[in-house]
Formats: sequence, C-alpha cells, structure tokens
Amino acid sequence: MPKVKLHIDGELIEKEVDKNANLVVLAGIKQFPKLKYGCGMGRCTRCTCRVLKGAENLDEPNWKEKKMLGDKLEEGYRLTCQLSIQDDIEITQENISIRPPRRKKSVTEMK
Ligand code: FES
Repeated sequence: MPKVKLHIDGELIEKEVDKNANLVVLAGIKQFPKLKYGCGMGRCTRCTCRVLKGAENLDEPNWKEKKMLGDKLEEGYRLTCQLSIQDDIEITQENISIRPPRRKKSVTEMK
C-alpha cells in the first residue's frame, strides 16, 4: 500500500492508503482530517499541495490542474483533489497561497 507523508500545520502526518486513493475523499471520511480542501472538483484551489517526493508516481496534471495552477505545476504544485495515489508520496500544504485565476464573466452575468 502506498505511504503518504503530509506536512501540515507544523506536523508530519504519515499514513498508508489504498492504491488509487484520493486524499480529499479520505479527508472527507476523517482519515486525513487536517488536509485542506474545498470543492473536491478542481475548482477552488484550497487543496493545493506541493509535491516534495514521489511526483514521478503521479499521473500527468489534468486539464483542471493546468487551468487552475498554470506555471505553478512546474514548481511541483498540484491539486490534491485531482490526485490518484499510486505509490509513496510526500506532500506539503504549508505556506501555500494559491488563488484560483479570475473567472471571466459570462455574457449572461454581464447583463
Ligand atoms: S478541493 Fe477545490 S480544487 Fe481541490
């Protein structure tokens, strides 16, 4: 089973998870209660983490991560809610302040 190391609020939390686990789903059922997250759908960026080790074990960023994180992907940032944990990984949610890009108003909102 993959091991997850999560740095958050000055703590290091280590847990084993099932292969293909989603950490936001696990946070929702209280197995990662400190994990920061919001929408769970790749829209709010509250779950943003920086991958410290094991990035090679993750799938390539999907279109939601590319849209929300842009150049930050190259610095190791990922949306935790979009990750499927395949193998050991170490991530941090310490000192991360990513905001979602400004949304363009749709034609109906401008009326
Ligand atoms: S929880 Fe909202 S983007 Fe991941």
